[in-house]
Parts: sequence; C-alpha cells; structure tokens
Amino acid sequence: MQKILRSFLFVPADSEKKLKKATNLGADALILDLEDAVLPVNKALGRKLACAFLRDAKTNAQIWVRVNPLDSEYIAEDLEAVVPLAPDGIMLPKPDGPVDIETLSRRLERLEHKYELPLGGIKILPVATETARAVMSLGLYPRTHLPRLLGLTWGAEDLATDIGALTNKGPDGNFAFTYQVVRSHTLIAAKAAGIQAVDTLYDNFRDKEGLRARAGCAFAEGFTGMLAIHPAQVPIINKSFTPTEAQVRQAEAVIQAFKDDPGAGAVQVGGKMIDMPHLKQAQNILSLYKSTKS
Ligand code: COA
Ligand code: MG
Repeated sequence: MQKILRSFLFVPADSEKKLKKATNLGADALILDLEDAVLPVNKALGRKLACAFLRDAKTNAQIWVRVNPLDSEYIAEDLEAVVPLAPDGIMLPKPDGPVDIETLSRRLERLEHKYELPLGGIKILPVATETARAVMSLGLYPRTHLPRLLGLTWGAEDLATDIGALTNKGPDGNFAFTYQVVRSHTLIAAKAAGIQAVDTLYDNFRDKEGLRARAGCAFAEGFTGMLAIHPAQVPIINKSFTPTEAQVRQAEAVIQAFKDDPGAGAVQVGGKMIDMPHLKQAQNILSLYKSTKS
C-alpha cells in the first residue's frame, strides 16, 4: 500500500527563500509549483531551482512537482528538466480526465527509460476537477488502469473560470453547492478507485480555527489528506488527518471484541452494537494510524 500523505505543501518553485524554508516544516509532501504560482517570465528560473532542490535538498518530505498543463507550451521542458531527478511524483493540473493521466504516464515512462530510472516509480496526483469535462470524467477513474495514480485532488478556482461562474462561494462564504458536489464526487471517485482522496486547499491561511474545522470534517468524511499553501497550515493538517489516541483505542477495542467472540457477526463494545462495517472501519483507522507512524 502507498504511504498515506496527509499534507501537501505548495512551494512556488521560483522562490529560493520559500524552497529553503520548506525542507523542515513537517509536510508529508512538498509540491514545487511550476504552474500558476510562477509567472511566464520565471518559468525557466522555477525549473532550475526545482532541479537544484530535487538534487540537493535534505528533507524527510516527499518531493513532488506541479508541472504546467499537458496542452501548455511548457510541459515538455518541465518534464525533461525534473524527471531525470526522480521526483516522488508529478501533480498534473487541468487534465480533462483519465485519458490525460495515460498520456502523462506514457511520457514519464519514456523519460524513465531514457534516464534509466525504475519504471513506474514516479507517481501522479491530478487536480481532477479544474474543467467541466474533467468533472464529467471523474467516474472513469475507477474503471481505468492507472498504476501511477496516487490519489485524486480537486480545485474550485479554475473550475469556476471554466464554467463562467463569477464566484465559487455561496452567500455564507463556503463553497457554493456546485463545488461541494464536485468535492464529494472526487472523494467517491478516489475511494472507488482505491486511492488517496486529497481535499483542496483552505485559502484563508491566517485562519487556523477555520482550517482546523475544515480539515477535521474532511478527515471524518474519508479524505486522507489536504493541500496546503502556507507553513502554518502543515501541523494542523497533519494532526487533523491522523487518527486520535481515542479513535485508535476504540478501534483496538472493536477488533479485540471480534477476536474474543470469533463466531459472532455482531458484538458489543461499551454497550453499543458493533458489526461488520464497524470492524472494517476499525481496521481502516488502525492502518491509517500505522501509515502515519511509518
Ligand atoms: N512554502 C515555504 N515557505 C513559505 C511558504 C510556502 N508555501 N509560504 C510562506 N513561506 C514562508 C515565508 O517566506 C516566510 O518566511 P520568513 O519567516 O523566513 O520570512 C514565512 O513562511 C511566513 O510567511 P508569511 O509572511 O506569513 O506569508 P507570505 O506573505 O510570505 O506568503 C503566500 C504568503 C500566500 C504568498 C505564500 O504562503 C505562498 O507563496 N504560498 C504558496 C502559493 C502557491 O504555491 N500557490 C500555488 C498553489 S494554489
Ligand atoms: Mg490553478
């Protein structure tokens, strides 16, 4: 099983200062961004600094790179620059669906071959909802063989632009209904495909309480991790996506209760009826917990 990655911190690849800072912030993964956070005039600089980081950085975090979209003028140079340095993964913005993941996989395979890297070693995390077509294709992910696919994440900004919306927020300041539906579809598609479900970023990065509430809900709903844009978000996200001691103890009690009564389909723990879905949930919590400790 792939290690569960709870926090993915975006770092603009053209910022030497932020790159330097990023190494020991405790993020499970860093995403060196070559796309929207880097202006066209700085794309070459971003590539150069991303390569230096991949070569020299001392960090426990996985190192991912967000390249430019497949139909952009930058993609060939992005891949040719970073793939030889074997990043842990590539984040792909604005794919129209699994067909674009197949295209990227083939391009990665050719480069892995060329640079004598282990075939299939570089994983892919698409931002799977940035176009209307992409949203309509979410259901294809579980039916497409994509061994490099680590998970699915989603975004609301580019989608709003693509569908001609004035805003992606409702009157209460939360995502409007359309984007909440898209978020749920991303979660379900990832689960149906047996891969990680990564919630989108919380853009108000000074609002720690708001992030804690959002991340807590996302974990409870089944998301395994979340995107981050600022160092202060990383510890909150890591904690929110790690089962608590109480959840682990409860899971152990459920598993023990079934072990103590091997013939039973339903048992009780603390006066509550527990059956198969609870057992699976308990096993899931323990495996998540173990993944975060490994
Ligand atoms: N990665 C690494 N370091 C970061 C960082 C990031 N994503 N965001 C901020 N920092 C650093 C700052 O450089 C600053 O360092 P210092 O204390 O040594 O001066 C420190 O963390 C505190 O930053 P702060 O002053 O609170 O924020 P800022 O105004 O410097 O930056 C943003 C705010 C939003 C511009 C910045 O967080 C950022 O660039 N985020 C990522 C943007 C991105 O990649 N977007 C694309 C995906 S949507
Ligand atoms: Mg974008």
